[in-house]
Amino acid sequence: MRILTGGVAFFDSGIGGITVLDSAKRALPNEIFYYYGDNEHAPYGNLTDEQIMSFVKASMERLQTLRIKAVVLACNTATAVCVERLRKTYPFPIIGAEPAILPACALGEDILVLSTRATYQSERFYSLITRAQTRYPNARITAKPCDLLAGVIERNLGKAHFDFTKYLPTADKAYRAVVLGCTHYIYIKKQISEYYHCETVDGNDGIVRRLQTLLNADCEKCRDTQPLVTPPVLLGENRVDMDGDIYNPAQSQIGKNAPIYFIGSQKQHNRLIYEQMFANPCK
Ligand code: DGL
Repeated sequence: MRILTGGVAFFDSGIGGITVLDSAKRALPNEIFYYYGDNEHAPYGNLTDEQIMSFVKASMERLQTLRIKAVVLACNTATAVCVERLRKTYPFPIIGAEPAILPACALGEDILVLSTRATYQSERFYSLITRAQTRYPNARITAKPCDLLAGVIERNLGKAHFDFTKYLPTADKAYRAVVLGCTHYIYIKKQISEYYHCETVDGNDGIVRRLQTLLNADCEKCRDTQPLVTPPVLLGENRVDMDGDIYNPAQSQIGKNAPIYFIGSQKQHNRLIYEQMFANPCK
């Protein structure tokens, strides 16, 4: 049975996961979504695994205070470093983000994978490349970490004429496709595609498909864990979010285009980015 309370929380180190949120919103306009960016600690990509784990865990603790039915870890870096440990720790289902290497290899042989350094160095990334190589023996996969790119996007998105391509690895050969292995990179996919003269591939559609499957399934984990999640403070029909703001989830469950609740200290900033980049009305 489908759970009608709660919502789905999206998490990223900063603004990158808003690209995933946008894809999900288009596919599931009536679903309640929360967006939480840990912008104060972004970028994560050059932090140690321990630092990333502790920031992500602190964020999960905060999200747990909402009646969420699932979390989308809309961050390749957080997924690479911590998704397995998080799944063992928290009662809600967690959907991760992974570089879309397999779909890219289906397109052709020379594939470039761009990611943060933490993703690049992770065991998960290594085993994903190994799987892709086994399934597509002719694939030539080149992986390159981008040390500054996510941080530069985090701080400069929306600035007119900003040249993000200065932070991309040199185009050393012709590629069939570039995998955007960090959700921040999706904002500049046009520039990346022009720079490497090939198409880009990202994992957003795959994440949304997994979310749809989860929400449509008779989800044992969702149902069993709901009572364990501390409900937010109730004020009549309204609730108070973890920042003390009042919202009304019941209203948003009925009818089309449920609002998105941006939460956390950078919620105004993240809402603005969403509105500017994707031009959708939201709370
Ligand atoms: N958006 C993130 C990712 O997908 C994180 C980038 C960062 O914080 O360095 O990897």
